[in-house]
Amino acid sequence: METVSNEELVTILKSPSLFMWKMLGIKPLSYQVQILEDDSRNILIVGGRQIGKSLTLAAKATWRAFVKPNEDILILARNLRQAKIIFDHIYRYVSSNSFIAQHTTKKTISEVRFDNGSVIRCLPSGRAGEGIRGFSATMVIFDEAAFIPEEVFVALNPSLAVRGAQVVYSSTPYGKRGFFYQAYEDQKSRIASNRTFSIYEIPSRMNPYMKVEVLEMEKRLKTAAQYAQEYEAQFVDEAGMFFPYSLVYSCIADYDYAFPKKIEEGDKFLLGVDVGYTGDDETALCVIRENKMGDRRVQYIEAISKTTIPQITGRVLDLFKAIPFSRIYIDKTGVGAGAYDLLKEGIGSTVVGVEFSEHNRDRMYGNLKLALEQKTLELNSSDTKMIYQFSSYMAKYDITGKLRLTKDLTIHDDLVDALALTFIDKGGFKVGVLDQGMDFSYTKFSDNRPHVVDRRWFGIDEVRQ
Ligand SMILES: Nc1ncnc2c1ncn2[C@@H]1O[C@H](COP(=O)(O)OP(=O)(O)OP(=O)(O)O)[C@@H](O)[C@H]1O
Ligand SMILES: [Mg+2]
Repeated sequence: METVSNEELVTILKSPSLFMWKMLGIKPLSYQVQILEDDSRNILIVGGRQIGKSLTLAAKATWRAFVKPNEDILILARNLRQAKIIFDHIYRYVSSNSFIAQHTTKKTISEVRFDNGSVIRCLPSGRAGEGIRGFSATMVIFDEAAFIPEEVFVALNPSLAVRGAQVVYSSTPYGKRGFFYQAYEDQKSRIASNRTFSIYEIPSRMNPYMKVEVLEMEKRLKTAAQYAQEYEAQFVDEAGMFFPYSLVYSCIADYDYAFPKKIEEGDKFLLGVDVGYTGDDETALCVIRENKMGDRRVQYIEAISKTTIPQITGRVLDLFKAIPFSRIYIDKTGVGAGAYDLLKEGIGSTVVGVEFSEHNRDRMYGNLKLALEQKTLELNSSDTKMIYQFSSYMAKYDITGKLRLTKDLTIHDDLVDALALTFIDKGGFKVGVLDQGMDFSYTKFSDNRPHVVDRRWFGIDEVRQ
């Protein structure tokens, strides 16, 4: 945007896609041009991952605020972290172009104002949209709309009507549930001329910047249903899923998702460690906070890649120095055995080794599912990676009529596995530590259990009733 004549400038400012290209320096792809130029009241974008939703919608909002006076634009997502993704693009756009920068009057981490009276803000929708009632916007962009509760759309509807706002609903699908899916279904069931939304369905492969190798790898590491949803932008049915979307969704909460800075009295911390199978695999560390009532939340997640056993062990010891875990559960199948041995030697009986045997898997995932059903576990709304991972566990009934977990072991769900490890002895199950015939049985978290510091192998088996 260095040397443009006034006539050229007029042309550029008329078109949001030219604006994105010439002023913001990103040449929009053809589907992005369509979205940018679309001035329908309602726009619904069902997109695969990484198709440039955030980038394009940020440009659309920036153009509108810059070119039209007195615009009031809201970027909304379930939590501030997500809303800030689009907003950060906007912030960068208005900062990097000196012509636009000259016309901004205020710039904070959640608000940009222009000298024509326009403003762009980003806000979290939360569960019920409390903070956003009363805004009379001229444009609203909902990002990752599949995670925004219905109440929010209902709460916001009256204020959107006031100024005839343009509303953009954009998301990667998350099950056949929720407002985003229903709006899509409703519109699709109508003949084109009766639709009140313009609809875009864009699989990830339509983005030429998306590497084919990445898509191929994702295809290998995900179930067909997961891939269809996240990369082919298809709404997937939850039938047969061990953790149905609606169940997982019902446990999503908005809270500070970070390494605990302060340890509150009465809180108990647990750590689940899912060790990557090869040096290239990620090792997932999942910190659980449990309150006095026994209710849990996923407090913090860390995935470390390309790690060696000493690195994994070192990291766990670091965490243990900062947080007095009541229990550290570690997957000791395969490579994990080495890490387990070292940690057991260093920390002692706080460390519980868990083999991913069928029996243990049934128990861990069964307890985890029970916690979701009983709403005694909170998942963080900003961790969509973990939330999506739940959908790879399938269920079927065995010959005794019991619901059993089935899972392709090549599918990577390290985050959920790390979480599930902490559920091995939840719910009153007794865990026995068997060591050379002696049975040091303990009930979960009882304080009088024997403290065993030994580098020998400890098998964990359910105590025979
Ligand atoms: N027109 C374009 N020109 C150059 N790069 C692009 C373009 N469109 C998308 N990209 C690239 O594609 C990637 C994804 O962009 P973006 O984060 O906006 O996508 P998204 O659909 O919001 O992704 P996610 O599913 O992760 O939310 C980025 O690396 C971006 O640079
Ligand atoms: Mg995005």
